[in-house]
Amino acid sequence: MNEAVHVKSLRQLAGTIRVPGDKSASHRALMISALADGVSTISGISEGHDVRATRGIVEALGVAVHEEGSILYVTGANGGLRGVDRPLQCENSGTTIRLMAGVVATIEGRHELVGDESLNRRPMDRIAVPLRRMGAHVVGRGERLFPPLEVTGRSSLEGIDYEVPEASAQVKSAVLFAGLAARSPTTVTETVRTRTTTEDMFRDAGVNISLRDRDDGRVVTLTPGRPLHHDWSIPGDPSQAAFFAVLGALHRDATIQVSGIDAAPERTGFVDVLARMGAQVVLIRDGDWYALSSRSSHLVATEIHAREVPSVDEVPILSVAACAASGVTRFRDMAELRLKESDRFAGSLSLARSLGCRAWSDGNDFFIEGLGEAQRFQEFSLDAGLDHRMVMAAAVAATAGRGGTVVGASTVSSSYPNFFTDLGQLA
Ligand code: S3P
Repeated sequence: MNEAVHVKSLRQLAGTIRVPGDKSASHRALMISALADGVSTISGISEGHDVRATRGIVEALGVAVHEEGSILYVTGANGGLRGVDRPLQCENSGTTIRLMAGVVATIEGRHELVGDESLNRRPMDRIAVPLRRMGAHVVGRGERLFPPLEVTGRSSLEGIDYEVPEASAQVKSAVLFAGLAARSPTTVTETVRTRTTTEDMFRDAGVNISLRDRDDGRVVTLTPGRPLHHDWSIPGDPSQAAFFAVLGALHRDATIQVSGIDAAPERTGFVDVLARMGAQVVLIRDGDWYALSSRSSHLVATEIHAREVPSVDEVPILSVAACAASGVTRFRDMAELRLKESDRFAGSLSLARSLGCRAWSDGNDFFIEGLGEAQRFQEFSLDAGLDHRMVMAAAVAATAGRGGTVVGASTVSSSYPNFFTDLGQLA
């Protein structure tokens, strides 16, 4: 896992990319289909290892999954999911462990959820608090409940009224999955609007769920019920498209398009940020979905608040954009960034410094003074620390700059196994 890959600088970039299926929608399509009665199909599912882990777990819980060509057939377990004695392997995937905790909380008995070294450093208290209130028993290591996680489920949980303290679609979704099998309705309130993938897909599967936007967030109300089988068609992942959008904008000679992506407002905040930085990045309708095009631009510094990019997945790559911009970019309220596959707060600062930028922090804010253009980046080496997004952010910096070495580059497979091939095809 620790092998180093040297990424070359590329002189000219052009072409169209199809990024993997949206990771969030892929996990949920498997989970909802597993809970449904009958046969669901999934097309366009992410080929990343995170989603493969979710597939392995639904199969372990008694669900039949098979592939025919590019379509996945999922036959919901007749009579409901059943627990197993062996640990459920979540690998590197926070979405798998957190959402699955909500799913297994509804299955009688004890379930063990395990993962890799990176997952073992991620706090699970955020899901344990509401799941315990619903009646499940949740145990992890230490006060913050690091995995391995033990969840003892009950087939009759109580619905709750829960305000999610952190901006987290995973926490909201864990509660909603558990709420499907509760005895009474569940309400989840969020003060930052996070992606509505769970809500939208529950509704597609016939579940009674309503959303009400407030000035400062959103209230989601769910009536318990079993999802219906559905034919899922998964769009491309906008958070993966973000890497190519930034690459196109900061590279000296580039025209790049990413086709067929989802463009939900909670997912495309990075496009607005890049536009504010002067990037020639445009989202346009592409059949049922959207295409994102990006070309060489002169970037200027800006101020980015975490609320603009809820879940902060795009912050590592926006910090590369900041490195190429003129002026000081401020990233505000970035505490959540520390709790991802790696500490991306520290990782974004080290990547910026290794490229030759001045970068510093103040509480939960950090600052990057850009070099004005990516050609001025230094050649660098970065340890991606089992974090796919740090691999891709570093690879983009190397490609647009003067090359670089990424240690642990194979971690990119957790979300985007063909990333380096796709990147190479733009040359
Ligand atoms: C995800 C939610 C996000 C994000 C992750 C996928 C999801 O985490 O980082 O990659 O599918 O719900 P948060 O829980 O911080 O929103």
